[in-house]
Amino acid sequence: MTDIATLERDVLAALDAAADEAAVEDLRIAALGKSGSISGLLKTLGAMTPDERKEKGPLINGLRDRVQGAIAARKEALGEAALEARLSSERVDISLPVQDGPESRGRIHPISQVIDEITAIFGDMGFAIAEGPDVETDDLNFTKLNFPVGHPAREMHDTFFFAPDDNGERKLLRTHTSPVQVRTMLAQEPPVRVICPGRTYRNDSDQTHTPMFHQVEGLVIDKGAHLGHLKWILEEFCKSFFEIDDVKMRFRPSFFPFTEPSMEVDIQCSRKGGEIRFGEGDDWLEILGCGMVHPNVLRNCGVDPEIYQGFAWGMGIDRIAMLKYGMPDLRPFFEADVRWLSHYGFRPLDLPTLTGGLST
Ligand code: DAH
Repeated sequence: MTDIATLERDVLAALDAAADEAAVEDLRIAALGKSGSISGLLKTLGAMTPDERKEKGPLINGLRDRVQGAIAARKEALGEAALEARLSSERVDISLPVQDGPESRGRIHPISQVIDEITAIFGDMGFAIAEGPDVETDDLNFTKLNFPVGHPAREMHDTFFFAPDDNGERKLLRTHTSPVQVRTMLAQEPPVRVICPGRTYRNDSDQTHTPMFHQVEGLVIDKGAHLGHLKWILEEFCKSFFEIDDVKMRFRPSFFPFTEPSMEVDIQCSRKGGEIRFGEGDDWLEILGCGMVHPNVLRNCGVDPEIYQGFAWGMGIDRIAMLKYGMPDLRPFFEADVRWLSHYGFRPLDLPTLTGGLST
């Protein structure tokens, strides 16, 4: 009996004296490990007579339980003390400047930025986004948009055609985002309110044209949609996008097969010393085409022109990006030169919002 009491006293005294969790662990192994002192006592139970075991069993098991409990309590106390010591010795100086990592050197391409800006503005007006494929059928790119086969307006698009497939169908790279209007009307019952940003292709290349470029299309179909709505939407868009309080716009008659009447829109600007400013001056700059959706297009897309009417517009994203951010040449947009991108690009976390600012 004495050895059980002595053993308990010794182990508990050693536990009290243990300075850290590692020392407690050593003690646990010495007492309760495979060849530990208490494990040794437990093993002796096997060789005892039943009477002896009845007497010693509870004593030895009780010793084991108390020592186990004491070890756990000591470990927890030491762990808490160690954490406490660490918390009071470590300091974070939140007034230090943030160190720039390599990730902060990345830049958002101006096209992505401008698409986000356009999305923020039209999203606020309740427009949804619609998308379509870059490889399009002749039917959706032209025929359904009221470009009859053989119509000269088709030739103006400098289209990239693919070789005819087994059925003799000649696919093409879409020359404008207008086929997404058709796809939307075919897929969705009116009312419709969408913008369709995306890549477009024409065989053209100079300072302000590249074979791949970007457009954003807008489409509204509703029973009472009229040109007054279109004009208001475009004015609000231009004010928000160019971040000016007032904008003067000029609607000139024009021709597109898919709208009637059709218009081209200019915004007033001044050009001084090579710099373009909007909302002032006596010059005009063309920024988009628009009109009321032609009844033939509505019919081709399963919309009854006796019930519904709509308006649409199409705008070059690259062009308005160049105008807003003063980039003189379109070609470097697509040359993946990091020097150009770090000069004209945008910081990754400066997301454009109407409340927080579009470009700041
Ligand atoms: N698709 C025309 C183009 O690429 C732009 C355009 C003009 C789109 C008038 C429209 C529109 O939706 O109504 O030149």
